[in-house]
Amino acid sequence: MKAIAAVAPNWGIGDGTGMLYRIPGDLKFFRSRTAGHTVIMGRRTLESLPGGKPLPKRRNIVLTRDRRWHPRGVYVCHSIRELLELLTALEETDPFVIGGGEIYRQLLPYCDSCILTRVDQAPPVTPSVFFPDLAALGWHETVLSEPQEENGYTYRFTEWRP
Ligand SMILES: NC(=O)c1ccc[n+]([C@@H]2O[C@H](COP(=O)([O-])OP(=O)(O)OC[C@H]3O[C@@H](n4cnc5c(N)ncnc54)[C@H](OP(=O)(O)O)[C@@H]3O)[C@@H](O)[C@H]2O)c1
Repeated sequence: MKAIAAVAPNWGIGDGTGMLYRIPGDLKFFRSRTAGHTVIMGRRTLESLPGGKPLPKRRNIVLTRDRRWHPRGVYVCHSIRELLELLTALEETDPFVIGGGEIYRQLLPYCDSCILTRVDQAPPVTPSVFFPDLAALGWHETVLSEPQEENGYTYRFTEWRP
Protein backbone atom coordinates (compact mmCIF):
# COMPACT_ATOMS: atom_id res chain seq x y z
CA MET A 1 0.00 0.00 0.00
CA LYS A 2 0.96 3.65 -0.35
CA ALA A 3 0.41 6.63 1.91
CA ILE A 4 -0.41 10.03 0.45
CA ALA A 5 -0.33 13.29 2.45
CA ALA A 6 0.45 16.99 2.39
CA VAL A 7 3.03 17.86 5.03
CA ALA A 8 4.47 20.98 6.66
CA PRO A 9 8.24 21.42 7.17
CA ASN A 10 7.83 20.02 10.72
CA TRP A 11 5.79 17.03 9.41
CA GLY A 12 2.53 18.58 10.61
CA ILE A 13 -0.56 17.45 8.67
CA GLY A 14 -3.56 18.78 10.57
CA ASP A 15 -4.95 20.71 13.50
CA GLY A 16 -7.25 17.88 14.58
CA THR A 17 -10.27 19.04 12.61
CA GLY A 18 -8.94 19.95 9.18
CA MET A 19 -5.99 20.24 6.83
CA LEU A 20 -3.30 22.88 7.34
CA TYR A 21 -3.19 24.44 3.85
CA ARG A 22 -5.63 25.36 1.08
CA ILE A 23 -3.71 24.44 -2.06
CA PRO A 24 -5.98 23.60 -5.04
CA GLY A 25 -3.05 22.13 -7.04
CA ASP A 26 -2.43 19.66 -4.24
CA LEU A 27 -6.09 18.63 -4.08
CA LYS A 28 -6.03 18.09 -7.85
CA PHE A 29 -2.86 15.95 -7.52
CA PHE A 30 -4.50 13.94 -4.70
CA ARG A 31 -7.62 13.37 -6.81
CA SER A 32 -5.64 12.31 -9.88
CA ARG A 33 -3.52 9.85 -7.87
CA THR A 34 -6.35 8.25 -5.90
CA ALA A 35 -9.27 8.29 -8.41
CA GLY A 36 -10.46 4.77 -9.16
CA HIS A 37 -8.50 3.32 -6.22
CA THR A 38 -9.28 2.17 -2.71
CA VAL A 39 -8.63 4.75 0.04
CA ILE A 40 -8.17 3.92 3.73
CA MET A 41 -8.75 6.50 6.46
CA GLY A 42 -9.51 6.96 10.14
CA ARG A 43 -12.97 7.95 11.36
CA ARG A 44 -11.79 11.48 12.21
CA THR A 45 -10.48 12.06 8.71
CA LEU A 46 -13.77 10.92 7.19
CA GLU A 47 -15.57 13.40 9.45
CA SER A 48 -13.22 16.19 8.28
CA LEU A 49 -14.18 15.66 4.61
CA PRO A 50 -16.82 17.96 3.04
CA GLY A 51 -20.17 16.98 4.56
CA GLY A 52 -18.43 14.12 6.39
CA LYS A 53 -19.03 12.12 3.21
CA PRO A 54 -16.80 9.48 1.57
CA LEU A 55 -14.70 10.48 -1.42
CA PRO A 56 -16.47 9.94 -4.75
CA LYS A 57 -15.08 7.64 -7.45
CA ARG A 58 -13.06 5.71 -4.87
CA ARG A 59 -13.73 2.69 -2.67
CA ASN A 60 -13.64 4.13 0.88
CA ILE A 61 -12.55 2.06 3.88
CA VAL A 62 -12.81 3.68 7.32
CA LEU A 63 -11.30 2.52 10.61
CA THR A 64 -13.19 2.97 13.88
CA ARG A 65 -13.35 1.03 17.11
CA ASP A 66 -17.04 1.89 17.46
CA ARG A 67 -19.04 -1.17 16.40
CA ARG A 68 -22.31 0.80 16.27
CA TRP A 69 -20.99 3.26 13.69
CA HIS A 70 -22.11 2.40 10.15
CA PRO A 71 -22.19 5.40 7.79
CA ARG A 72 -23.40 4.97 4.24
CA GLY A 73 -21.10 4.31 1.34
CA VAL A 74 -18.06 3.06 3.23
CA TYR A 75 -16.54 -0.24 4.31
CA VAL A 76 -15.95 -0.16 8.07
CA CYS A 77 -13.09 -1.99 9.83
CA HIS A 78 -12.56 -2.22 13.58
CA SER A 79 -8.87 -3.14 13.68
CA ILE A 80 -5.79 -3.24 11.45
CA ARG A 81 -6.19 -7.01 11.30
CA GLU A 82 -9.77 -6.69 10.06
CA LEU A 83 -8.57 -4.15 7.48
CA LEU A 84 -5.89 -6.53 6.16
CA GLU A 85 -8.47 -9.32 5.94
CA LEU A 86 -10.86 -7.07 4.01
CA LEU A 87 -8.13 -6.04 1.55
CA THR A 88 -7.36 -9.71 0.93
CA ALA A 89 -11.05 -10.53 0.44
CA LEU A 90 -11.40 -7.63 -2.01
CA GLU A 91 -8.17 -8.68 -3.79
CA GLU A 92 -6.99 -5.12 -3.28
CA THR A 93 -3.21 -4.95 -3.51
CA ASP A 94 -2.51 -1.26 -4.00
CA PRO A 95 -4.72 0.92 -1.78
CA PHE A 96 -3.90 4.44 -0.62
CA VAL A 97 -3.68 5.33 3.05
CA ILE A 98 -5.07 8.88 3.21
CA GLY A 99 -4.82 9.68 6.93
CA GLY A 100 -4.93 10.91 9.46
CA GLY A 101 -2.05 10.85 11.92
CA GLU A 102 -3.11 7.74 13.85
CA ILE A 103 -3.73 5.75 10.70
CA TYR A 104 -0.52 6.82 8.91
CA ARG A 105 1.46 5.80 12.00
CA GLN A 106 -0.15 2.36 12.27
CA LEU A 107 -0.05 1.55 8.56
CA LEU A 108 3.42 2.87 7.76
CA PRO A 109 4.93 -0.63 8.33
CA TYR A 110 2.70 -1.91 5.48
CA CYS A 111 3.57 0.94 3.07
CA ASP A 112 6.15 0.49 0.31
CA SER A 113 5.98 4.18 -0.60
CA CYS A 114 4.73 7.52 0.67
CA ILE A 115 3.70 10.25 -1.73
CA LEU A 116 4.12 13.55 0.06
CA THR A 117 3.33 17.08 -0.99
CA ARG A 118 6.02 19.00 0.88
CA VAL A 119 5.16 22.63 1.56
CA ASP A 120 8.07 24.98 2.30
CA GLN A 121 6.20 27.46 4.50
CA ALA A 122 4.90 26.89 8.01
CA PRO A 123 1.08 26.61 8.03
CA PRO A 124 -1.24 29.40 9.22
CA VAL A 125 -2.45 27.21 12.12
CA THR A 126 -0.34 25.27 14.58
CA PRO A 127 -0.31 21.55 13.74
CA SER A 128 -1.33 19.05 16.41
CA VAL A 129 -1.34 15.99 14.15
CA PHE A 130 1.83 14.76 12.43
CA PHE A 131 3.02 12.40 9.72
CA PRO A 132 5.86 10.08 10.82
CA ASP A 133 9.25 11.82 10.29
CA LEU A 134 10.44 9.71 7.37
CA ALA A 135 13.83 11.44 7.21
CA ALA A 136 14.51 10.45 10.82
CA LEU A 137 13.35 6.91 10.01
CA GLY A 138 15.94 6.73 7.21
CA TRP A 139 13.49 6.69 4.26
CA HIS A 140 14.78 8.07 0.92
CA GLU A 141 13.14 10.93 -0.94
CA THR A 142 12.71 11.30 -4.71
CA VAL A 143 11.43 14.66 -5.92
CA LEU A 144 8.70 14.16 -8.54
CA SER A 145 8.06 17.76 -9.59
CA GLU A 146 9.58 21.20 -9.92
CA PRO A 147 8.56 23.55 -7.12
CA GLN A 148 5.00 24.80 -7.63
CA GLU A 149 3.68 28.15 -6.36
CA GLU A 150 0.11 28.82 -5.31
CA ASN A 151 -1.71 30.91 -2.67
CA GLY A 152 1.65 32.19 -1.40
CA TYR A 153 3.01 28.68 -0.84
CA THR A 154 5.79 26.82 -2.61
CA TYR A 155 5.52 23.05 -2.64
CA ARG A 156 6.73 19.97 -4.49
CA PHE A 157 5.48 16.44 -4.96
CA THR A 158 7.83 13.79 -3.58
CA GLU A 159 7.94 10.03 -3.19
CA TRP A 160 9.62 8.34 -0.21
CA ARG A 161 10.77 4.73 0.00
CA PRO A 162 12.26 2.83 2.95
N1 LIG B 1 -2.34 16.70 5.44
C1 LIG B 1 -2.93 15.59 5.03
O1 LIG B 1 -2.60 15.07 3.96
C2 LIG B 1 -4.01 14.97 5.87
C3 LIG B 1 -4.64 13.80 5.43
C4 LIG B 1 -5.63 13.24 6.24
C5 LIG B 1 -5.97 13.82 7.46
N2 LIG B 1 -5.33 14.94 7.84
C6 LIG B 1 -5.66 15.57 9.13
O2 LIG B 1 -5.40 14.65 10.19
C7 LIG B 1 -6.28 14.95 11.28
C8 LIG B 1 -6.99 13.67 11.72
O3 LIG B 1 -6.02 12.72 12.15
P1 LIG B 1 -6.17 11.97 13.57
O4 LIG B 1 -4.87 11.28 13.87
O5 LIG B 1 -6.72 12.93 14.56
O6 LIG B 1 -7.35 10.93 13.27
P2 LIG B 1 -7.52 9.76 12.17
O7 LIG B 1 -6.23 9.00 12.04
O8 LIG B 1 -8.14 10.31 10.94
O9 LIG B 1 -8.65 8.86 12.85
C9 LIG B 1 -8.45 8.36 14.15
C10 LIG B 1 -9.60 7.42 14.47
O10 LIG B 1 -9.45 6.22 13.70
C11 LIG B 1 -9.92 5.11 14.46
N3 LIG B 1 -8.80 4.20 14.65
C12 LIG B 1 -7.50 4.48 14.84
N4 LIG B 1 -6.78 3.34 14.93
C13 LIG B 1 -7.64 2.31 14.82
C14 LIG B 1 -7.50 0.90 14.84
N5 LIG B 1 -6.30 0.30 15.01
N6 LIG B 1 -8.61 0.14 14.70
C15 LIG B 1 -9.84 0.72 14.53
N7 LIG B 1 -10.03 2.07 14.48
C16 LIG B 1 -8.94 2.85 14.64
C17 LIG B 1 -10.45 5.66 15.77
O11 LIG B 1 -11.82 5.98 15.52
P3 LIG B 1 -12.94 5.95 16.69
O12 LIG B 1 -12.59 7.09 17.59
O13 LIG B 1 -14.23 6.15 15.93
O14 LIG B 1 -12.83 4.61 17.36
C18 LIG B 1 -9.64 6.96 15.91
O15 LIG B 1 -10.26 7.92 16.74
C19 LIG B 1 -7.22 16.05 10.78
O16 LIG B 1 -6.74 17.32 11.20
C20 LIG B 1 -7.12 15.94 9.27
O17 LIG B 1 -7.41 17.14 8.60
C21 LIG B 1 -4.36 15.53 7.08
